[in-house]
Amino acid sequence: MTDSYEIIKHEYDVVVVGAGGAGLRATLGLAEAGLKTACVTKVFPTRSHTVAAQGGVSAALGNMGEDDWRWHAYDTVKGSDWLGDQDAIEYMCREAIPSIIELEHYGVPFSRTGEGKIYQRPFGGMTTHFGEGTAQRTCAAADRTGHAMLHTLYQQSLKEKAEFFIEYFAIDLIMDDDGNCCGVLAWDLSTGQLHEFRSHMVILATGGYGRTYFSCTSAHTCTGDGGGMVLRAGLELQDIEFVQFHPTGIYGAGCLITEGVRGEGGYLTNSKGERFMERYAPNAKDLASRDVVSRSMTIEIREGRGVGPKNDHIHLHLEHLGPEVINERLPGIAESAKIFAGVDVTKEPIPVIPTVHYNMGGIPTNYGGEVVTLKDGNPDSVVPGLMAVGEAACVSVHGANRLGSNSLLDLVVFGRSAAIRAAEVVKKGAPHKRLADDHLEPILTRLDTLRNANGSLATADIRDAMQSTMQNNAAVFRTGETLSEGVDKMAEVAKSFADVKVSDRSMVWNSDLVETMELDNMLGQAMATMTSASNRTESRGAHAREDYPDRDDGNWMKHTLSWWRDGKIDIDYRPVHDYTMSDELEYIEPKKRVY
Ligand code: FUM
Repeated sequence: MTDSYEIIKHEYDVVVVGAGGAGLRATLGLAEAGLKTACVTKVFPTRSHTVAAQGGVSAALGNMGEDDWRWHAYDTVKGSDWLGDQDAIEYMCREAIPSIIELEHYGVPFSRTGEGKIYQRPFGGMTTHFGEGTAQRTCAAADRTGHAMLHTLYQQSLKEKAEFFIEYFAIDLIMDDDGNCCGVLAWDLSTGQLHEFRSHMVILATGGYGRTYFSCTSAHTCTGDGGGMVLRAGLELQDIEFVQFHPTGIYGAGCLITEGVRGEGGYLTNSKGERFMERYAPNAKDLASRDVVSRSMTIEIREGRGVGPKNDHIHLHLEHLGPEVINERLPGIAESAKIFAGVDVTKEPIPVIPTVHYNMGGIPTNYGGEVVTLKDGNPDSVVPGLMAVGEAACVSVHGANRLGSNSLLDLVVFGRSAAIRAAEVVKKGAPHKRLADDHLEPILTRLDTLRNANGSLATADIRDAMQSTMQNNAAVFRTGETLSEGVDKMAEVAKSFADVKVSDRSMVWNSDLVETMELDNMLGQAMATMTSASNRTESRGAHAREDYPDRDDGNWMKHTLSWWRDGKIDIDYRPVHDYTMSDELEYIEPKKRVY
């Protein structure tokens, strides 16, 4: 029996959870299609983590030199170390072009070329002619592209009469006995009231779970709430061992310094002043893909060529670009470097270190955003009523390593495609299925248990233990030993959650309870990351095993699936799609990945 809660009931055609780039793009498309749409978000939309995306969004517009979406697809497949599904990659790279032009028409204030076209900068791993030249493919609004996109998408969504429920924390999915998703239960943090949102489709756009790590570029809100809900619903996550380290987080602070700095001509040096990337990636150098640059920096530091009193970081130079370029194209970077590193970028290098940045894995979906699950031997079986988009999802277009500026693209293309698909499968204004009177009982029981938790461990202490385990045991380089120790340690940390203490019992602005629920969401994903990484005995993309240094296509050209059952992770696999979507792109055969 639970405490009694007054529950406010709502009915919508579609409910979107999360108001970052993917959630807002989906919300806008749904509202434009005339579906009654609610967007439930734990932070004010323009404070969602997309706001921190700096360098830009990729699309083969060819504004600054020749380009072709097939070259973009080739780069993305190679960047993914051949783990990406090539049908979904074809969809993303082809649809990039209309999706970005649409954004321009919605009003995103992109930087401009002299001719008035959208300005595009080079980014890591982006080439022309299938790996020959350097592409200028990343469309930028100075170094505040995510910020510009969020503001535009939020305003357009309001114009289309989408309804926003702001500072509402989604507690759990409402699933019926047949495995259909029928809505979501959310908590209005300001009044303490609970709201039941019934809908024909729930779209999870809740972002990544970067905060499972101690040092990351992600906001404190990036706690993988959608992934947590999906695991509790008995569904699986995919490829969750692939965690991207961005080469240039500010040393000590973790804040992002955009790859756009290197795109504009910035470069990295070690303690000897060497531009060491020339040794590791003779062609692409500082603009090799992120996994390659992060590993190279880590090797430099390990071999004693790091900078600073402890030789534990690297220098990023942009002094030579001059104040004019910096002020016009990288003003936010100059500000962040000053605030977080005390550095005047026109005079000194920025101290940087590889920092957790992005989750390639997530909730498995098809390219229409529908969540898929392994059922009766079919890995592409659709979960009725449930979609996922953005970093929360795994389509999979990023495979084992994402290219910079393909993230904002993923948000826009798949937010848009989810809205298109939802408009096909949801009948406007259709009545909602009647559920059992006590259908919310399991969710309320969990809420009650957490709210009244009276153990001996503070939420922050358990979170600390999780973050240091992830940081130490699932890092840039991994070994069987560090990972199996990590699996055991994470199992202990997850077990200790049964002894958590929540001090504040109120339902109004109870940050202790919010953080406890966020921790609960993260723990399963931390466990799944460690276990999936421990099982994958090869090196591919961001998953670099020192004991298995080579990619092993014979055994490992497959996606990892992970379920959290009875306190442990169960693993299975599904094949990588070895086909494209149309005859316009030929399947790109696996080969050695060099930059
Ligand atoms: O470096 C950056 O501006 C980050 C972009 C991205 O992660 O796509």
